[in-house]
Amino acid sequence: TTTPEIHRGLAGVVVDTTAISTVIQETNSLTYRGYAVQDLAAHCSFEEVAYLLWYGELPDTQQLHEFRARERALRPLDRTTAELLARLPETCHPMDVLRTAVSFFGSEDPTEDDGSTAANHAKSLALLAKLPVVAAADHRRRQGLAPIQPDPSLGYAENFFHMCFGALPSPEVVRCFEISLILYAEHSFNASTFTARVVTSTLSDLYSAVTAAIGALKGPLHGGANEAVMHMLNEIGDPQWAEKWLDEALADKRRIMGFGHRVYKHGDSRVPIMQEATDLLVTSADDADAARLAALHSALRHAMLSRKGIHPNLDYPAGLAYHLMGFDIPTFTPLFVMSRITGWTAHITEQLEHNSLIRPLGVYNGPGQRAVPAHAR
Ligand code: CMC
Repeated sequence: TTTPEIHRGLAGVVVDTTAISTVIQETNSLTYRGYAVQDLAAHCSFEEVAYLLWYGELPDTQQLHEFRARERALRPLDRTTAELLARLPETCHPMDVLRTAVSFFGSEDPTEDDGSTAANHAKSLALLAKLPVVAAADHRRRQGLAPIQPDPSLGYAENFFHMCFGALPSPEVVRCFEISLILYAEHSFNASTFTARVVTSTLSDLYSAVTAAIGALKGPLHGGANEAVMHMLNEIGDPQWAEKWLDEALADKRRIMGFGHRVYKHGDSRVPIMQEATDLLVTSADDADAARLAALHSALRHAMLSRKGIHPNLDYPAGLAYHLMGFDIPTFTPLFVMSRITGWTAHITEQLEHNSLIRPLGVYNGPGQRAVPAHAR
């Protein structure tokens, strides 16, 4: 018998069709339901993009109004959830807090097992509304501060700043944040989305699928990279050390965080727009520390391109942007969750529309068949 070809990491393997998003190779552009992300980032709010991903079309004025009202009404956490989350160890990573929160929401929802599209849309909207409240409360808890309740008069992005800092930043900061949410929202069969589809394919529930997806996103080869980028910039410290640091890191065979991509080999289509928004933050911050970090960020990008020919991915500018917005590093990947919850849940609904159990094969390379030895009998 011939050994079947192995696609380690499922690289290049096509497992299903999807109508949610695609990367158009010729133009290197990412589209959601046919719209280029650049266009969406320039003209739409994150709420409109969430609606688009779930329902397939952009909302009209009335639909958007109703959608926003529902999202705002769903934000508050009940007392049991707030108490449960407050009891988690203060040392635990905020991704563990989000993962636990989603799992707990599932245990509280009497419609948990209803996998209809309507029920899943309702659950998705509730998660979209509540996850920022969890992330903001946890951000404040790490600083020994009491949570701030959501404000229903504020949009999704602004309300998040209000809940984290008790104040609203400049419009440039809010816009940059919103752009990051739009760019992070969806990316086809990436590791966490695929994880959500695998769980859904067993006909398990949406909360279980999202809980698993959060676990997959946490890792540094995926969403955890935006945090790793900032740790790396802090480790290097100064623009003049970027090249030397990189040469040593590459000699040590280290992965340079925020660079490279499984799908994009000539640059991540989302990077230019995120970089532009981040540059605006640096200019408007008018602060020596921001200028130093921006110079270091740019020096490392150039060095990586000249040494390895590897381009940055979205996490590279987003990591710096989130730092400049005032978030502490452990909050960065939770911000990714607040956005990607839209893509995950759109894929969960789509998986159920034409479900087939996801169950690949492996080539066995362990010991041949043998008898249990006497000492173990
Ligand atoms: N630093 C150093 N070398 C790299 C990097 C990197 N960031 N990315 C790729 N390479 C090299 C790798 O060493 C390999 O070289 P060689 O062929 O000589 O062994 C070659 O490029 C191909 O790498 P690969 O691991 O086979 O490619 P992949 O498609 O499996 O990797 C990746 C994709 C994202 C896992 C990888 O680029 C990586 O580890 N990047 C750093 C982590 C990161 O930024 N992740 C975020 C991904 S995108 C957004 C997101 O999901 O959040």
